[in-house]
Amino acid sequence: MTALIVDDVTKVYGEGHTEVRALCNASLELGDNEFLALLGPSGSGKTTLLSVIGGLLAPTSGTVTVGEIQLTALSRKEQTRFRANRVGFVFQGFNLVPFLTARENMTVMAPISDATRDEIEARTDQLLEELGLTARRDNLPEQLSGGERQRVAIGRALVSDPDLILVDEPTASLDTELGTQVVQLLASEIKSRGKAGIMVTHDLRMVEFTDRTVRILDGELLNG
Ligand SMILES: Nc1ncnc2c1ncn2[C@@H]1O[C@H](COP(=O)(O)OP(=O)(O)OP(=O)(O)O)[C@@H](O)[C@H]1O
Ligand SMILES: [Mg+2]
Repeated sequence: MTALIVDDVTKVYGEGHTEVRALCNASLELGDNEFLALLGPSGSGKTTLLSVIGGLLAPTSGTVTVGEIQLTALSRKEQTRFRANRVGFVFQGFNLVPFLTARENMTVMAPISDATRDEIEARTDQLLEELGLTARRDNLPEQLSGGERQRVAIGRALVSDPDLILVDEPTASLDTELGTQVVQLLASEIKSRGKAGIMVTHDLRMVEFTDRTVRILDGELLNG
């Protein structure tokens, strides 16, 4: 089955002299259990594409279909529910809540997902274990290393058991060894749990952990 279809998506920010065409007629298909690397220079539209795919940003034209759901046809409320249950985001720069512990950061989105409290608790503990964070579960973000923070952000993305994982620059603030560990972990979570994933990266060394590479330049997808 196809996990994701991006069909002819254009995204224009602003208007008049401030207009930016961040995505131009972008089309892309992602198979079930496929892990895709998205490469492109700064400002090429990578974060914009992930945001449109995840329903955080409405495209100017075109459609996005995740599994059997056409995201672009949903109401705002339905989109929020969709995001909480079906999509896991790891943002550029983690976005951890500074006054919540590692474990609390992982469950922070749980109230808007359809999972029960018990399901979330069980999955959180399992993910803490898999991500090697059990001993750090009660630490605040400032008491964690960069790699640990990144793993908390990955745990938070996986806790609602989403079908699609979207990861923006997971290795930007990590050294090569830690970066490799984090991406390997992400790849194994995606593969072992039957998910699909897209990872934005500038680092060509990380591409070997993915199934396929797509490049973006000035908002245009090449070999999509
Ligand atoms: N909210 C916004 N309003 C106006 N223009 C924007 C907005 N967000 C992004 N842009 C512009 O759209 C283009 C694509 O931005 P985007 O953030 O998708 O790039 P990116 O590939 O993720 O870059 P980076 O690698 O630096 O993160 C850029 O020219 C950027 O300036
Ligand atoms: Mg970006």
